[in-house]
Amino acid sequence: MIYFRENTKTFFLNTANSSYVIKILKDDMLCHWYYGASLGDDNLDTLNLFAKHEYMQSEEVGKWIVSKDTAPFEYSVSGNGDFRTPALLVENKYGQRTANLVYEKHHIFKGKAEIEGMPSFNKNTEDVETLEILLRDTVSDFTVSLYYSVFEKEDAITRRTVVHNTSEEGLKLLSAQSLSLDFQTEKFDFITLDGAWARERHINRRALTTGTTSIESRRGATGHQHNPFCALVSADTNENNGDAYGFALVYSGNFKICADVDQFGSTRIQAGINPFNFCYNLAAGESFSTPEAVMVYSQNGLNGMSQRFHNMCRNHLGKSSEKLVRPIVINSWEAMYFDMSEAAIEAFVSNCKDLGIDTFVLDDGWFGKRDNDHTSLGDWFIDEAKFPNGFDPVVKVCKENGMKFGLWIEPEMISRKSRLFEAHPDWCIHVENKEPTESRQQLVLDMSRPEIVDYIYEEIAKILNKYDITYVKWDMNRNITDAGSATLSPEHHGEFGHRYILGVYELMRRLTTNFPKILFEGCAGGGGRFDFGVLYYMPQIWTSDDTDAMERLKIQYGTSLVYPLSAMTAHVSACPNHQTGRTTLFKTRGDVAQICNFGYELDIAKLSKSEKIQIKEQVALHKRLESMIATGTFYRIDSPFKNDFCSWQIVSSNKKSAFVMFASQKVTPNIAGHYVKLQGLLPDKTYLVSPLSIRLSGKTLMNFGLPITQMRDFETLTFELKAE
Ligand code: DGJ
Repeated sequence: MIYFRENTKTFFLNTANSSYVIKILKDDMLCHWYYGASLGDDNLDTLNLFAKHEYMQSEEVGKWIVSKDTAPFEYSVSGNGDFRTPALLVENKYGQRTANLVYEKHHIFKGKAEIEGMPSFNKNTEDVETLEILLRDTVSDFTVSLYYSVFEKEDAITRRTVVHNTSEEGLKLLSAQSLSLDFQTEKFDFITLDGAWARERHINRRALTTGTTSIESRRGATGHQHNPFCALVSADTNENNGDAYGFALVYSGNFKICADVDQFGSTRIQAGINPFNFCYNLAAGESFSTPEAVMVYSQNGLNGMSQRFHNMCRNHLGKSSEKLVRPIVINSWEAMYFDMSEAAIEAFVSNCKDLGIDTFVLDDGWFGKRDNDHTSLGDWFIDEAKFPNGFDPVVKVCKENGMKFGLWIEPEMISRKSRLFEAHPDWCIHVENKEPTESRQQLVLDMSRPEIVDYIYEEIAKILNKYDITYVKWDMNRNITDAGSATLSPEHHGEFGHRYILGVYELMRRLTTNFPKILFEGCAGGGGRFDFGVLYYMPQIWTSDDTDAMERLKIQYGTSLVYPLSAMTAHVSACPNHQTGRTTLFKTRGDVAQICNFGYELDIAKLSKSEKIQIKEQVALHKRLESMIATGTFYRIDSPFKNDFCSWQIVSSNKKSAFVMFASQKVTPNIAGHYVKLQGLLPDKTYLVSPLSIRLSGKTLMNFGLPITQMRDFETLTFELKAE
C-alpha cells in the first residue's frame, strides 16, 4: 500500500512486512528516510541523524541542519555538495555536470507501466500499486521520474528511473542508476554471487568498510564472473534469522552494483547500467528509461530474502510466471559433441525408449558445416551431410519413442567461416582499423542493427515453423569485444552496449511471442547470462557447463539465493565428469540435479543395466517432485561453502509434502554424525519419512532434525516426507 501524508510530506510504501519511506524536505529536497521492517503510521520527523558537522557545508532546511555531503538523498546527483557516487550524471550543452533535482509532483496509481523494449515485472498483477515522483533539474531543465511499484504480498518493490529532456538542447546521460538507496549505517555484510565459467555464482560475503565495494560487468552480458544481484545483511544474519535486503536487476547487459560507505558510516547502495563506456544522448524531447531493479526485505534471514525473489520471479516475471510444462530432457552435447548423423541420432533416441524422458534436445553441431567450433554460426540451415533428409526422421524417431524434439541455437553469433560472413562481413561487431577479436573462434553479430535482428529472426523462424519443435536452447558463448557498430555515428557509440542488449531482447520477444508453445531455455556457456532479464523471456536457464555433482552443490546453492529452482536446469552426465574428471555415483548425480529442471546429458548405450533402472526411478521421483519445484518453498539448510556437506529442502505450498537432500562432499573419519534440522513444516502434523519409514511430528523434525551418519565422499541421501 502506498500513501502520502501531506502534513509531514512523507511517502509510505508498505508491503506485508516492510516499509519504505521517502520525505520531501523544505526546498523540495527529496530524502530517503527508512527501509526495513514495517513501521507504524507515525510522524517520523524527529527520527533522523541530521547534525551539523565541522568542515562541511551545512544549511538550514526547514527544521533541520542538513549537509548535502551526508544527507540521504532519494536520487543523488553530482556537483551540488554531495561528493558520493551520484545516481544520475548528466552533461549539459556547456559540458557541465552539476545538477539540482527538486520535487515537483507525484502520482499514485494501481498497477504499473511496462518499459518499452525491455523486460520488467508484470504490470497486470493484482496488489500492485505504483508511485511516480517527478523531480525537475533546475540547472539544465530535464525531469526525472522515479517509479516505485509495490508488490505488497511479495514484500518486494520494483524501481526504475526515467530521464526526460525537456530542454531545447541535447543532453548526455553518463550514468542513470536503476536504484540508489542511502542507509544511515555501515554495519552490513555485502553478499554477491561471483565465479567463473564452470564455477558460477559462488556465495561471496564480506563486511563493508569505508570506501566503495563493487561488482560489475563490462562484457556486454551479465557474465559468469558476477551476477546482477547483491544483498546487504547484518553481521549475524544467517539462513533463517536476521535482516536481509536483496537487490537485483532485470537486465542482461553491462551492469554495476556498488556500496559506498562514507566518512560518517552511511551506506549508499546503487545498481544499474555500468557507467563504464556508457554515454546516452538525449535530444530535446527524448526520454531514457533505466532497466528495472527489484528490492526485497526480510527479517527471516537469507532464506526469507530468497523466497521473496523466487515468488517475484515465479508469479510476476513474463514467461517465468506462465505455467509452462518443463520436460525431462536428454541432451546430445556431452554424449556426442559435434559428431552426429541421422543414424547416430536415431540410435541415441531409440535407446531412450520407456525411460520416461520427455524430450530429446539436439545441441550444437546440426547446422551449416558445423563439425567443430570454428565454423558455421549464422548459417541456420540443416547440415545435409549429417541430416540428408532434414529433421523429419529425427522428429519421427522421437515420436516413435514417446518423446518430443528440441533444438540448440546461438542466434547472436557469426563464424568467419560461414556463408553469412561471406555475404555480410560488416555484420559482426567491430571497430575501425582493427581485426575483430575472436573468442571460441567466433564473432558477435551487431544486434544493435534492426536489419540483423530481422534477418536472424526470419532464418530461425523458418526452422521452427517447418518442424515440430517444442524446446529451444538459446546459447551465447562469448562476450563482446571491439564494441562498435558500423551504423552508429561517433557521438552515439556510448550507447552501443545498451542498444546491443535491446536488439537481443527484441529478438527474444519476437521468437518467444510468435512461438508461444515452445519452451525456450537460456544459456551462455552455461550460466554466463543468468538474470531476471533473460528469465522474463525464457523461464529456465542452463545453470552451468559444469555438470559435476559436487560442483553443482555450490553452483545451485548459490544460484538459489536469487533465482527459483524452476529457473535452473541440471542434468545427470557421464563419469569421469567431463569438466572435473571426478567420478560420483549415478545416484548422487541424480539426487543433486533433481531439484532443478531435470534431464540427462550422456549416451544411454554406455550405461549399465543398474544405471538404466536408476533413470526410471529418478524420472519417477522427479515427476513426484515437479509441482513442489514449481510452486513450493525452497530452504537452504547446510551450506557447502562452510561445511564438507550440503543439505537443502523443498516444502510443498500446503506444507504437507517435503523433499530433503543431504550430500557429503568430503568425509572426516570417525566423527559423530550431523542432524539436518528441517524447515517450514506444519509443527503439529505427523510426517511419514521415507525411506526411513518413521513417523515424526513437524516440531521434532524441525527442532531435533534427521540424523545423518556413515556417509562416504560424494554420497547423497534423500528423504520424502508426507503429512498423515
Ligand atoms: C555451451 C553450452 O553451455 C553447452 O551446454 C553446449 O550447448 C555448448 N555451448 C555447445 O557449443
